[in-house]
Amino acid sequence: SKIHVTTTVNGDTVEFLADPRETLLDCLRDRLGLTGSKEGCGTGDCGACSVMLDGRLVSSCLVLGVEAEGKTVDTIEGMARGDDLHPLQRKFIEHAALQCGFCTPGILVAAKALLDQNPDPSESEVRYWLAGNLCRCTGYDKIVNAVMDAAA
Ligand code: FES
Repeated sequence: SKIHVTTTVNGDTVEFLADPRETLLDCLRDRLGLTGSKEGCGTGDCGACSVMLDGRLVSSCLVLGVEAEGKTVDTIEGMARGDDLHPLQRKFIEHAALQCGFCTPGILVAAKALLDQNPDPSESEVRYWLAGNLCRCTGYDKIVNAVMDAAA
C-alpha cells in the first residue's frame, strides 16, 4: 500500500502517494512531474539526480520518497526565478557548458550548492566538488569555466 507524503518542493507544499520502496527521484519525476532531475545510473555514481534535501546535496536515487516527509526539497526546476535564469544557468549557456544536457540539471544543482557555501572557490575546489557529477560528453573544462565565471 502507498504512503502519503507531504513535503516542500521548491518552496511549495506538495503531497503525493509513494510506494514505500520508491526513490525520491522517481517520486519527483513520476508523482510530481518534475523531470529535470535525471536517472543516469540509479546507484549514486553519476550525480544526474542531484537535489537539495533540507539544504544538503543528495543523490535522489539513493533517497526514498518517504524520507522527504516534512522536509524541503530543492530541484533544478526551482533554480530560475520565472524567466530569470540563475547566474549559473546563464554562464552555462554563455560558455556552451553542455552538450547533450543530460547531466546539466544535476551539475547546476551541485554547483549552486557549492557557491552557496563557498562563493569564491578555486578551480581545484570546483573540480573536487563536481567530481561526483559525471558528464559522458566529457565537457568538463567548459563546465568548470562556467562555474568559475558565475562565482567571479
Ligand atoms: Fe542518482 Fe546516478 S542516478 S547518482
